[in-house]
Amino acid sequence: MNLFATKSVSRILEESESGHQLRRTLGPGNLIALGIGAIIGAGLFSLTGIAAAQNAGPAVALSMVVAGIGCAFAGLCYSEFSCMIPVAGSAYTYAYTTLGEWLAWIIGWDLVLEYAVGAATVSISWSGYVVSLLHDLGIELPAQLVAGPFETLHLPDGRSLQGMINLPAVFIIVVISLLLMVGIKESARTNALIVVIKLTVVVVFIGLGWMYIDKGNYTPYIPANQGVFGKFGLSGIMAGAGTIFFAYIGFDAVSTAAQEARNPQKDMPTGIIGSLVICTILYVLFATVLTGMVSYTKLGVAAPVAVAIDKTPYLWLNKLVKLGIIAGFTSVILVMLLGQSRVFYSMSRDGLVPKVFSDVHPRFRTPWRSNLLFCLFVSPFSAFLPLSVVGHMTSIGTLFAFVIVCASVWVMRRKHPETPRPFRTPWVPWVPVLGMVWNFAMMYSLGIDNWLRLIIWLVIGQVIYFSYSRHHSHLALRRAAEARE
Ligand code: ALA
Repeated sequence: MNLFATKSVSRILEESESGHQLRRTLGPGNLIALGIGAIIGAGLFSLTGIAAAQNAGPAVALSMVVAGIGCAFAGLCYSEFSCMIPVAGSAYTYAYTTLGEWLAWIIGWDLVLEYAVGAATVSISWSGYVVSLLHDLGIELPAQLVAGPFETLHLPDGRSLQGMINLPAVFIIVVISLLLMVGIKESARTNALIVVIKLTVVVVFIGLGWMYIDKGNYTPYIPANQGVFGKFGLSGIMAGAGTIFFAYIGFDAVSTAAQEARNPQKDMPTGIIGSLVICTILYVLFATVLTGMVSYTKLGVAAPVAVAIDKTPYLWLNKLVKLGIIAGFTSVILVMLLGQSRVFYSMSRDGLVPKVFSDVHPRFRTPWRSNLLFCLFVSPFSAFLPLSVVGHMTSIGTLFAFVIVCASVWVMRRKHPETPRPFRTPWVPWVPVLGMVWNFAMMYSLGIDNWLRLIIWLVIGQVIYFSYSRHHSHLALRRAAEARE
């Protein structure tokens, strides 16, 4: 059996043509909005604080730049693929055409870390902000039911308590999974509204917070390394980039809309790179203001923005900002769970995972069983694991996918130079190579524990591939049948 059998671009396009014809209605503005809607979320509003407190100090703003550059390289590679294979594209499909089934499987399996575990990460951050908002409104939820067992809670009376289960995080995962099962359409208008709310929150925070910066908080700007890789110093900036990379995840969602873009050749790169550039600028300003308002040592909490606003006289703003953040998170969780079911839908149609993942509900027309199974899979992550652990797992998994996508662009250029490419990544092989190196460096900086988690996850994937998927692969079965004829 050939592990490196590839699916041809023309076959993928044919299969997608036999499905729905999507209308080409999205212009560059819509695509940038789509990107921003999927990008701004828990990474910015929670992990910025954690990366500052644990890794980089005020220099977390530099970590933002490092992560943004890695994403730009990957974004250019995604742009080439999304125009060349404009189906509900994902790194999985791209790898199937270039690197063969086995690597496509690895990437599809790895994307569970990006989408499903990513959704868990945002749900934990969502819970942090909901608990904080309810507290402002005078409603206290039982402390042990809003944090997992690995988190220590510091009560107002000075006592410390271990959490037990993060129920609000599970709640939002269940609600959004139910919405996906009955088939909510994330309309462009709802998305635009949420994007406006998110951008307003970020801009208002930067604008007002600027006046409450205490320059003393910037000294030292790069706190001295504590003798361990990633704990401050230059390696801390790199480790901070690995953590904060989570904040950029989602721009690849733009690539899934290539079939609906009016002019994909120009608009895909504009959508991907445009949303990245806008987010990078906002992120650097946001991180600068946050670490200027509050000492980085106090930012390692799920809702650091609330800690910062408490330093201003605008306490009333706190509730509004939190409400905006909560609304913004909700759309990110939706996009991630939707992305997850789409990837497994494609894998199931290719025979690599069981048919249950592509069973469509007769009335709702959604892969509801898949949504249900992923709800059951994600909930324990949301319930029991700390934010930084699931956030790091998501980051390392996504970075790995980016490295493979960058490699795939290069391989495809060499193997199939003749395939039409409406958008060409500039300076090949340099951009893909820099993309691989840069994103690999961020993976490296995430440390041994996260590598072990990634490796364990990939090994589980190999067991499934060799015991199930390769015997059920439609491509392999078709080739075997052809060989018999
Ligand atoms: N970039 C998204 C977020 O930060 C995943 O929530």
